[in-house]
Amino acid sequence: VDPKFIRNFSIIAHIDHGKSTLADRFLEFTGSVSDREKKAQMLDDMELERERGITIKARSVTMNYKAKDGNLYQFNLIDTPGHVDFSYEVSRSLAACDGAILVVDAAQGVEAQTLANVYLALENDLQMLPVLNKIDLPSAQPDVILEQIENVIGLETDNACLISAKTGEGVNEVLEAVIEAFPPPSGKNENPLQALIFDAWFDSYRGLIILVRVFEGRLARKDRVKFMATHSEYEIDEVGIFEPKMAKTEALEAGQVGYVIATIKTLDEARVGDTITHAKKPCAEPLPGFKESKPMVFSGLYPSDAADYANLRDALDKLQINDTSFVFEPETSIALGFGFRCGFLGLLHMEIIQERLEREFDLDLVTTAPGVEYRVTTKSGDVVMVDSPSKLPDPGHIEIFEEPYILGTILTNSEYVGAVIKLCEERRGIQKKLEYVSEDRLLIEYELPLNEVVLDFYDRLKSVSRGYSSFDYHIEGYWNSNLIKLDILVNGDLVDALSLIVHRDKAQNRANLLTSKMKELIPRQMFDIAIQAAMGARIVARTTVKALRKNVLAKCYGGDISRKRKLLEKQKAGKKRMKAVGQVQIPQDAFLAMLKID
Ligand code: GTP
Repeated sequence: VDPKFIRNFSIIAHIDHGKSTLADRFLEFTGSVSDREKKAQMLDDMELERERGITIKARSVTMNYKAKDGNLYQFNLIDTPGHVDFSYEVSRSLAACDGAILVVDAAQGVEAQTLANVYLALENDLQMLPVLNKIDLPSAQPDVILEQIENVIGLETDNACLISAKTGEGVNEVLEAVIEAFPPPSGKNENPLQALIFDAWFDSYRGLIILVRVFEGRLARKDRVKFMATHSEYEIDEVGIFEPKMAKTEALEAGQVGYVIATIKTLDEARVGDTITHAKKPCAEPLPGFKESKPMVFSGLYPSDAADYANLRDALDKLQINDTSFVFEPETSIALGFGFRCGFLGLLHMEIIQERLEREFDLDLVTTAPGVEYRVTTKSGDVVMVDSPSKLPDPGHIEIFEEPYILGTILTNSEYVGAVIKLCEERRGIQKKLEYVSEDRLLIEYELPLNEVVLDFYDRLKSVSRGYSSFDYHIEGYWNSNLIKLDILVNGDLVDALSLIVHRDKAQNRANLLTSKMKELIPRQMFDIAIQAAMGARIVARTTVKALRKNVLAKCYGGDISRKRKLLEKQKAGKKRMKAVGQVQIPQDAFLAMLKID
């Protein structure tokens, strides 16, 4: 293929603006899927993904497009995940592209992830093609939104396409515009090989599948190649493209995007971001890689039943093969026993992993409230990263206590601005920007401690603005903060899994709310249960769960046996998620009580 006829691009969009629908239309219009094969959401192939409507793993599809100029083009559409937690994966997909189609919902306009994605595209020096989608909706306001794109994003809209991915209107024009808007790849087959690994995953049938963009040179089957970061060498077993099914080819030429298979055992040997070159005639320099993703949100995962510990470890190992951004290490809690401290990219990533463990591996888990990684400088000058309150050095030894903070971008309707600002201020936010993007829509930027964001900030934002807000963030750095550890005692026993790190100004209030919430969540038992909150040795709040007086079965009047059985079964099911701390049964919910106050 002459590079002149290749275009490598992504579609970027805020969630629900129609990225997947447009990708489906592309496949259909280029004849890449027959009607029988046509399935909604072709590009997302994990069950869970479909349910959540989010693309987690980057994929690519090669389409052949017969253009109006009579030429046959090869379009490589590289899929990107749409959620803020996965911005790192968006960035690495974009590194393989020369252009990005920016899809904006013509009724909703620019949202927080539209902006975040635009910044990532700019960082990668990509040309952008604005596409207004959903013009079939009566509420669409293409003119207003085009102006928004010019004013807020600073993007020229002369070549913008107005389309409906749903009806197909305008989609052909987008395919034509791609040829004009994006540059062809510039590499040459004769040059030494430089292929960027932008994704890799483990397939149970085929082994490790590596996605590459060949920038220079030609990569063929049987070639002996070297991975530049690890220096390991392999013979290539197979190369090919996704059409969208895997299709073997003889070689991937300069400018092409496709997959590579070699007998590689672990993801660690073929790192995403690394450059593949020929062993005999290597290139001088590796391609610029990308920043490694760092877990930002941490929580403890424990099996409900201690006997499942080994199963949980196996499951975590398996998940990590496909998702290197997720990390874990063994952790022991006095209250919860043996489990794992796990690090995730963000809250959604955490939820997805937890759900997959329960669903795909059939495990019952007890999870602790999410937290962040603090940076502590001790009096002796050591810097320690603390990802769990239980690892905090003695307060007397702490010289500097820092927490990560983010820059959050919020777009909201003017009527909710007051509520949104109030929420941000409550979460210790510092306002950085407040401006109108159109008549009744505002862009607000806040610096916020990540610790306050992981605790249900996003849910609260949605509820105070009745769903009319979007939110995105990136980590800015660490700032010094007046933090303190808050402990929870149940009948005098410190429950380490319930400890948390909070700002001193908020500690008393949190202690009150938390103890009263725990009182609601812990079921009454045959004896009184004292719930206390402590800062160091000082008890700062206390509630009591009063002893149970009546037998559960009493309200069945001793009559209907099937009803009795049902009740007992229900109790049993509920118990699975309980953890005994001393004599007290604590339900899973109580470990997440922090998320439920406010
Ligand atoms: P994520 O996969 O969650 O990132 O969303 P997405 O951007 O891929 O959006 P998706 O294609 O799933 O579309 C979101 C919703 O908008 C779906 O219910 C689509 O049916 C609908 N939709 C997409 N395009 C159009 C359009 O042109 N007109 C109308 N009316 N609805 C559309």
